[in-house]
Amino acid sequence: MGRIGVLTGGGDCPGLNAVIRGVVRKGVNDHGHAIVGFRYGWAGVLADEAVELTVESTSGILPRGGTILGTSRTNPFKEADGLERAKATLEARGIDVLIPIGGEDTLGVARQLADDGIPVVGVPKTIDNDLAGTDFTFGFQTAVQIATDAIDRLHTTAESHNRVIVVEVMGRHAGWIAAYAGMAGGADVILVPERPFDIEVVCDHVRRRHARGRTFSIVVVSEGAMPIGGEVYGRDVAKDAFGHERLGGIAVSLEAEIEQRTGYECRMTILGHVQRGGTPLAYDRVLGTRFGVAAIEAASAGTFGKMVALRGTEIELVPLEEALAEPKLLDPRLFETAEVFFG
Ligand code: F6P
Repeated sequence: MGRIGVLTGGGDCPGLNAVIRGVVRKGVNDHGHAIVGFRYGWAGVLADEAVELTVESTSGILPRGGTILGTSRTNPFKEADGLERAKATLEARGIDVLIPIGGEDTLGVARQLADDGIPVVGVPKTIDNDLAGTDFTFGFQTAVQIATDAIDRLHTTAESHNRVIVVEVMGRHAGWIAAYAGMAGGADVILVPERPFDIEVVCDHVRRRHARGRTFSIVVVSEGAMPIGGEVYGRDVAKDAFGHERLGGIAVSLEAEIEQRTGYECRMTILGHVQRGGTPLAYDRVLGTRFGVAAIEAASAGTFGKMVALRGTEIELVPLEEALAEPKLLDPRLFETAEVFFG
């Protein structure tokens, strides 16, 4: 029996509530733990803002998008006395183990706390699916389905108007969402960060389709894609507390370039945060639930400094260092399969 802290950090993600529910249900019912939920990620630990999570208060949250705890991109190591304040809160609240649910940033902080002797068990989260150590993160499949649905819809309007439509999806510096949604949606070209593109090759694919009598094309582009020798399309705003620039907008220039070079009418759509919103798919609810239950099991067994992970079909524990060593970029074999359908 102990006191377990839980928090959700970084971008929100469909399936976060499934993890919280899993932690609480298993932790309270099977282990008799008390579960303390910190609000807004690390910000809640710094400000000592928390709520007691019970089986009752977490009932009915499984299908809900977002996170009932709220989230933020607060980095305690960028705050004055951040580490000391975080430690003071955890001590004052009698937290025995902390379960941070997040991506590389949140888990990076978790790892630093672990190095400092704080018992942590991480849960990987990101729609981008770019965390090493786990085959999939929850939220990814939902984001892919939302993007695929959008591509299906854009197909019919592109076809009606004889247009090229450029669809921009998220994913940061990894092309997982673009590759999956592009393949599922039958995209004619997919541009990912791992494969800098030549705009003339993109236009050739479009021209080839037109030469075969097709009068429309769908180009799926990842927000982190870039032309050969060019740069990622960052927006001119301040970086976040973890040093990430704000991506998005490459579709704007692609729309103009493709129209000007091919002479075909072109439109762009940026899907943005719609990919992170709303109810999680069953897959992500199940993965989130399995992660939550596995995390509380590890916490109860005293296995710290690890992250729960999906390996094949099994949930395993991997060292946080392994998960954080390098981002997991798009599998080239997957991209090669997608390429079969270009042009
Ligand atoms: O990491 C998830 C993600 O949605 C990325 O795909 C995207 O670049 C970023 O977060 C957007 O962050 P924010 O919600 O802070 O704009």
